[in-house]
Amino acid sequence: MKVLITDFRHPDPSVERAVLDEVGAEVVVGQCKTSADVIEAAAGCTGLIATYARIDDAVLAARPEIRIVCRYGAGVDSVDLAAAARRGVWVANSPDYGIGEVATHALALALAQVRRVAWLDRDVHAGRFHFSSAGPIRRATSLTLGILGLGRIGKRMALVSREIFGRVIACDPYLIDGDFPHYVERVDLETLFARADLVSLHVPLTDETRGLVGQRLLERMRPGSMLVNTARGAVVDVPALLAALDAGRLQSAALDVLPEEPPPAGAPVLAHPRVLLTPHAAFYSEASVIENRTKAARNIVDWVRTGRPTYVVVEGAPRPAP
Ligand SMILES: NC(=O)c1ccc[n+]([C@@H]2O[C@H](COP(=O)([O-])OP(=O)(O)OC[C@H]3O[C@@H](n4cnc5c(N)ncnc54)[C@H](O)[C@@H]3O)[C@@H](O)[C@H]2O)c1
Repeated sequence: MKVLITDFRHPDPSVERAVLDEVGAEVVVGQCKTSADVIEAAAGCTGLIATYARIDDAVLAARPEIRIVCRYGAGVDSVDLAAAARRGVWVANSPDYGIGEVATHALALALAQVRRVAWLDRDVHAGRFHFSSAGPIRRATSLTLGILGLGRIGKRMALVSREIFGRVIACDPYLIDGDFPHYVERVDLETLFARADLVSLHVPLTDETRGLVGQRLLERMRPGSMLVNTARGAVVDVPALLAALDAGRLQSAALDVLPEEPPPAGAPVLAHPRVLLTPHAAFYSEASVIENRTKAARNIVDWVRTGRPTYVVVEGAPRPAP
């Protein structure tokens, strides 16, 4: 069998090759940007492993030989899941490779704002050396952290934050009460934004969450509050966020993810003095990358051996006998 890595940001596919070698799969690598690129590169491929390339219905229709699509990482919004389900194509991901990294990064972005680290750094470099040059700082234990989406990463964020902030509250309508740790208070969406001093987003990008953090919720936030987004850029309505910052509603925001990545030159978000940006780096450590690549490829090995990938997102049709 042949497996296409549709787009790839590592020096070489040696990790994936070593794993897929176990079932004798040939690995080919593309740098596909559009679904047309994927269609061209995927000729004769049974499996795809994708980073950002969109795997839409056109790809699956043009290449019916594709039986399994694996997405590096947790987010599968770049794959048309309904089309895959309709066509009996398995979809898998590697959702748990970087939970610690993302939660640690979200905490770093939270603390960089609470302690004003980024702004104090800018001030010192600009010749201003004073402990309050970046404005008043509130004691972290007096603050309430609000978590939207209490899944794998949200729960870890709650765990690593519980000793730092005075209170941790969270909204996740899809969990039962028993899934909320005892140190996290369950609240609804409106209450989360009204009560938290700092909101950290950990929801997947879905029809329901696209643009969810917009004017309506931002207007509910307390004056001087802060936002962290390590989830997906399109969960936040960025123009509405910049307006809330300019209106003084929010003190600052830290975004690891943006609706368009990288952001186009001249995008207002790049120039806003109270926005802290990182380049979709929350998942990254050397160890997490190896784990992600190994797990993405192992989905296909498991599917070949057992008929099921390790991490099933969409259940596909049974694999035809070899
Ligand atoms: N920045 C990065 O490098 C990076 C890395 C990994 C994951 N992510 C993003 O983080 C997201 C979360 O990852 P995870 O592993 O914790 O996923 P997860 O599926 O374990 O958790 C997501 C949680 O969000 C909840 N949820 C869904 N819709 C909601 C809504 N409308 N309101 C409130 N809660 C809602 C779900 O019930 C679930 O508990 C991923 O979907 C991905 O987009 C980003």
